[in-house]
Amino acid sequence: MSTDTHVSNRWSSRYAYILAATGAAVGLGNIWKFPYIMGENGGGAFVFVYLICVLLIGIPVMMAEVVIGKRGRSTPANAVAHVATEAGHSSHWSIIGTMGVLAGFLILSFYIVIAGWAAAYVFYAGSGEFSSAAADPATNAEAIGTLFGNLVSSVPQLLVWTTLTMTAVIYVISKGVKGGLETAVTYLMPALLVLLVAIMTYSAVVGDFAAAFSFMFDIDFSKLTIEGVLVALGHAFFTLSLASGIMMVYGAYLPDGVSIAKTSIMIAIADTMVALIAGLAIYPIVFAHGLEPSAGPGLLFQSLPIAFGSMPMGDVVGTVFFVMIVFAAFTSAIALLEATAAYLEERQGMPRVKAAITAGIAIWICSLGTVFSLAGTEWAQINFGFMGSNIFDMLDYLTANILMPLGGLLISVFVGWIMKTEVIKEEFNLAQWQFTTVMVLLRWVAPLGILFVFANSVGLLDVIK
Ligand code: PHE
Repeated sequence: MSTDTHVSNRWSSRYAYILAATGAAVGLGNIWKFPYIMGENGGGAFVFVYLICVLLIGIPVMMAEVVIGKRGRSTPANAVAHVATEAGHSSHWSIIGTMGVLAGFLILSFYIVIAGWAAAYVFYAGSGEFSSAAADPATNAEAIGTLFGNLVSSVPQLLVWTTLTMTAVIYVISKGVKGGLETAVTYLMPALLVLLVAIMTYSAVVGDFAAAFSFMFDIDFSKLTIEGVLVALGHAFFTLSLASGIMMVYGAYLPDGVSIAKTSIMIAIADTMVALIAGLAIYPIVFAHGLEPSAGPGLLFQSLPIAFGSMPMGDVVGTVFFVMIVFAAFTSAIALLEATAAYLEERQGMPRVKAAITAGIAIWICSLGTVFSLAGTEWAQINFGFMGSNIFDMLDYLTANILMPLGGLLISVFVGWIMKTEVIKEEFNLAQWQFTTVMVLLRWVAPLGILFVFANSVGLLDVIK
């Protein structure tokens, strides 16, 4: 039995929790990042390694986070401290929770800006920008390039879209767990699925589905590099929203009697399905139009719109496509804000609305670092050495390559070695062999695997390459 009940909020059902956690997981990582890193890292072989990472590391770490949150029934730092002292260990382990919330805070400060790009693109597609760019095929690519360039280099434009998106996120969080988060995901997640399947179907009809399918599922290990393996592992973390405070907070709201193992597996499957469907929606268009599958981060915002402009109903499909991305990004952004807002509510005793607004404004202020980095403003161009040469690159590097792997490592070690085994057993409620498997993954496989990524991301493996 949990003894500590700082948070009294609960999801109203198992289904609501699954939707919310899947909403947190499914986001720009699935639709923007996964397709281009798959493209850059060799297609099928990369997908294969990524799936292994989700299975062996992602799912156990998610279970570990949820069990900490649920047992502690409070926001991450307090939850970890509670679980540690219950096992007779120091409450200083709470640093794991604090790191997660900090990572989530920093991630949202740039995530919200990219979500804002997607919102801007709904407007561009809807107002016919793609088809007018395509009116002259000779200058189509250049016109789309200019459209993107003008957006990311304009401080006023970035500010408008970032502020609008953040305002909507604050609004949802101010309404609380049931009234805000749950209501939002109840509408947005099914809508997201419908839009995604519709676009995949369209893409299969007008695009080169066979080429996309073989690109994604033909496994050719000669295309896989050691970096590819590491990128796959890092992405498993990012896409499942691990080590960012979220899964601990969502675990704190988990109603009693819901299986942590089953729901974690379902969330991971749903997240992976969305990433694969997103690939099957995007690549047929990429191949049919002779675009470059390894175009990198610009694939979504610079390559695809070139194709949309000349496709049947391209403006409509383009609009729907970016609406879908906004939905996906939004359900992740609200999860990220929830982690900080819940922290302010519990630790500072702030009422919900004030906590949501304060957290939102603080993150909005931090997002200026990214806005001005993108726009090329002098003061945001700082040399952070290996972490990048502006604030945006530094935040991306710091969160994805340092805070998340380190957090994941500490979480797996904490639950694997520190937390009381009887408590974990009681909370997981699994058959003995299943429990043993999860514990082996948490004690050995996850920490060693993460150490491997971490060593690479801080450059240690460069020495042996
Ligand atoms: N999982 C989200 C995505 O794939 C990103 C995210 C990371 C959200 C960490 C919350 C925390 O887009």
